[in-house]
Amino acid sequence: MDKYPPHRHGAARPQLFKYLAAVVLVAVITATSSGVTLGWHRQSSVHVPINAAEIVDKCRALNVLPGPPTNFHERTQSDRYEAGTPPTHIKNATIWTGHADGHEVIVGDILLDKGIIQEVGRIKQSVLDGYKDLVTVDAQGAWVTPGIVDMHSHLGVDSAPALRGSDDTNSLKGLVLPWLRSLDGLNTHDDAYRLSISGGVTTANVLPGSADAIGGQAFSIKLRSTSERSSSSMVIEPPHSLNGSHVDSTATPRWRQMKHACGENPTRVYSGTRMDTIWAFRQGYETARKIKVKQDEYCAKALDGQWQNLGDFPEDLQWEALVDVLRGRVKVHNHCYEAVDLDGIVRLTNEFKFSIAAFHHAHETYLVPDLLKKAYGSTPAIALFATNGRYKREAYRGSEFAPRILAENGLRVVMKSDHPVLNSRHLLNEAQQAHYYGLPHNLALASVTSTPAKVLGYDHRIGFIKPGHDADVVVWDSHPLALGAAPQQVFIDGIAQLEKPFVSKKPSSHQRVPKTPDFDKEARDAVKYEGLPPLELNSSTSDITIFSNVSSVFLREGLSVKEVILAQGGKENAATVVVENGHVTCFGSDSQCQVAQYDLKVQRVNLEGGSISPALISFGSPLGLNHIDQEPSTNDGSVPNPLKGNLPSLLEDTVIRAVDGLQFSTRDALLAYRAGVTVGVTAPTSNHFLSGLGVAFSTGLPHRLAHGAVLQDITALHISILSSSPSISTQIGTLRNLLNGHGEGEIGKLFKKVTKGEIRLVIQVQSADIMAALINLKKDIEKAHGKGIQITFAGANEAHLLAKEIGDANIGVVLRPSRPFPGTWRSKRILPGPPLSEETSFTILKEHNVTVGLGVEEQWSSRNVRFDAAWAALEANGKISRSEAIALASTNLEHLLGVKNPNLDLVAVKRGTLLDFEGQVTGIISPQRGTVELLG
Ligand SMILES: *[C@@H]1O[C@H](CO)[C@@H](O)[C@H](O)[C@H]1NC(C)=O
Ligand SMILES: *[C@@H]1O[C@H](CO)[C@@H](O)[C@H](O)[C@H]1NC(C)=O
Ligand SMILES: *[C@@H]1O[C@H](CO)[C@@H](O)[C@H](O)[C@H]1NC(C)=O
Ligand SMILES: *[C@@H]1O[C@H](CO)[C@@H](O)[C@H](O)[C@H]1NC(C)=O
Ligand SMILES: *[C@@H]1O[C@H](CO)[C@@H](O)[C@H](O)[C@H]1NC(C)=O
Repeated sequence: MDKYPPHRHGAARPQLFKYLAAVVLVAVITATSSGVTLGWHRQSSVHVPINAAEIVDKCRALNVLPGPPTNFHERTQSDRYEAGTPPTHIKNATIWTGHADGHEVIVGDILLDKGIIQEVGRIKQSVLDGYKDLVTVDAQGAWVTPGIVDMHSHLGVDSAPALRGSDDTNSLKGLVLPWLRSLDGLNTHDDAYRLSISGGVTTANVLPGSADAIGGQAFSIKLRSTSERSSSSMVIEPPHSLNGSHVDSTATPRWRQMKHACGENPTRVYSGTRMDTIWAFRQGYETARKIKVKQDEYCAKALDGQWQNLGDFPEDLQWEALVDVLRGRVKVHNHCYEAVDLDGIVRLTNEFKFSIAAFHHAHETYLVPDLLKKAYGSTPAIALFATNGRYKREAYRGSEFAPRILAENGLRVVMKSDHPVLNSRHLLNEAQQAHYYGLPHNLALASVTSTPAKVLGYDHRIGFIKPGHDADVVVWDSHPLALGAAPQQVFIDGIAQLEKPFVSKKPSSHQRVPKTPDFDKEARDAVKYEGLPPLELNSSTSDITIFSNVSSVFLREGLSVKEVILAQGGKENAATVVVENGHVTCFGSDSQCQVAQYDLKVQRVNLEGGSISPALISFGSPLGLNHIDQEPSTNDGSVPNPLKGNLPSLLEDTVIRAVDGLQFSTRDALLAYRAGVTVGVTAPTSNHFLSGLGVAFSTGLPHRLAHGAVLQDITALHISILSSSPSISTQIGTLRNLLNGHGEGEIGKLFKKVTKGEIRLVIQVQSADIMAALINLKKDIEKAHGKGIQITFAGANEAHLLAKEIGDANIGVVLRPSRPFPGTWRSKRILPGPPLSEETSFTILKEHNVTVGLGVEEQWSSRNVRFDAAWAALEANGKISRSEAIALASTNLEHLLGVKNPNLDLVAVKRGTLLDFEGQVTGIISPQRGTVELLG
């Protein structure tokens, strides 16, 4: 805002009244002397319009900047207050207020009443005694923060479950559509509102999509349901113009929000180029600029009393919002990734003199901080994902270090969900990851609370814990930057949102800010190599590596994982692990391992209380089948649909093998490897019934012919029963025929092997009804053929409804995604887990002795498998051990996916285990290849 003079309405008022009085006087004279020319005052003969006062008001208000009315902070009740909401006293909380640049923490109480925070800190007993029906919440020292603000969401316009009637994200009626409003598509019945609230999200800025250069106006909403049950009543501070053009111009304007997008998306939708998109912007802005100039000229005359032939105020309903952008009254949210696109927009802002509130996605912003500072007006904030990247060219150079690098360059950082791209219930996890990769803790918490509140222009009421602010407050079960932090309670406008929250017990180490690893070198390299730092690891030059100061060792034992050393703390109990040619030859004390006998030149690594554990496996994404998911030339492509009937005859009975499409050294695979995920199990890409044969491969090797690159070239047979084309019943009927031996050729032979129990069948399925049909089918086939079929359900969002039956049928489950989301009708009936339910799908299935593994949906998240496992364990509330958590993403997956050649790699982790948000992967030990590779 620094290029606009702070011109608030209150300050302007006295002068305004003086001016009005003069005009009214002139008007009265003219009216009483109509038709008469008074020679002594020529000007009074001019026809002054009947609505002159209104016009003058409008002209005076034309450049008034939005903001809260001057008396806003005197309010004692929120405009969003719902009558009957009881006052609430949260006592003994550790309150992160958002003040002092995110460093202020107050231990004390918070009093909520009439929809606002009334007091923070020590609250006098006499004040509390003044309330009737006061609800008291004893936080017992728990962390409390302002409600989470998601600055980039499509909640309500891209609703869950996705139905044909629920995509109101993008209009395809033109490249420049500033007149559209996301509010017009805001579904009040999105299943995700409740889920996102259960992750502490209280406010979301609902943006139109990115198909257009200017996709329309955005609206910031509170997620709670309102007594009016309308879309409009969810909007925070609706712009006055929302009801029509008759706006009370004496009221201080309210901020408006607008979506812009550059780069690939608009060019794809309109089959144009970047040049076309920027031209569309310039054309749109030129239209708005001309209207603005006309308005300014008109108003200059009107305010000067030159009414002669003045006519009507120049305006155009289609363009008024864009004119408002030029008047500095709209927060522009610009989806924009690459340097080339950022450059184009920075030029645009200087050509037309408007400012950008934030660049969103913005994967290359960390490479061009000086360019961003050249944008007109205040420097845009940057709204990012933490680790979601590389899915298209624009995202290829994205870095997990971007948040810290931007912050180091003085840019404001916001973490965002792009819900439902990421489930905004877990937006806090984006801030946690940004912190893990180096964004300071104060800024990480601010990145989902106070920073977005400021960028949106609503920091006078949300984003901070402060008397007079909206009563949007979250009480957490652990420090909010600790992995798996979940709300104990969420208040929106003072209303408690969780009915009977289940609070899981978190380890005491989760009550403080996690200590993060040192990634300084990695962050420097990200910039040095323009987002593409080399990721390959080199084998150690020494045959022997001695890992000292090891607190825990986990080893495979058959199909499970066992923890074999657990240091009791203190140096004496920390162990030494000797690795010779990739094999662990000793673990124990220095004397047990005769450490003294080794040459001084032997490689030594101090794990600083860390651990050694089995490496993990990633399954569920096309990892290894492409470098850039959305780039066909880097991609293996999709398997043709065998049930479509127009296949070339050569293909009719071919079973596709993923091994034939493998590509090595993809960045997602190498990043996974560096995160201790050394094996990928991937099936051929298909959503149509028959996918093909899976493969298990090393994520760290350069090509298929490298020693150990392919762990197992054929794992299981993969099919999916997800979409109804052809009908679900047709697909189940086809499966029945195939399992009964009616198939031809290669496909027929393979299914006969499935029937004999010789190869595992992995079925992608979400719906409990389809799983029930498959359980019956399995029983029938087994009865008829006398053999046990090996089946795994992958996906299985609704498996908890059939846990007993799945257990009885001896079927395994890979939960994919590992934390459920009701994205489609067939995955709608999820068991959400804490705080909405005590049980999770995982705990219920485990109770019924079902072998469970965790899957991922997109390959960028393969690197996060270690945290997915840790999170599942935290949600299980002590029902599983650390070894069992590691098994979820290692030995269990091998069993469930038909991997018979086990992944024997081990991972050395500094300062923690693979499951800790403080641990840093330091080395990969491979007995199969006889190597130790060190990171950094
Ligand atoms: C606040 O909670 C902490 C942690 O449970 C407890 O140790 C302390 O005694 C409590 N203080 C008050 C004033 O209740
Ligand atoms: C729109 O009009 C309705 C009905 O008069 C009123 O309740 C509401 O506050 C108005 N909204 C705005 C943003 O002015
Ligand atoms: C790995 O080896 C190559 C070639 O010897 C070298 O250029 C590179 O710097 C090494 N990388 C690391 C991380 O040591
Ligand atoms: C072992 O690690 C702990 C925890 O990081 C550290 O405090 C200690 O100094 C280390 N001991 C040795 C001998 O390096
Ligand atoms: C699960 O397995 C355990 C150990 O084999 C057994 O005691 C228990 O009854 C089984 N539970 C179910 C629900 O089958």
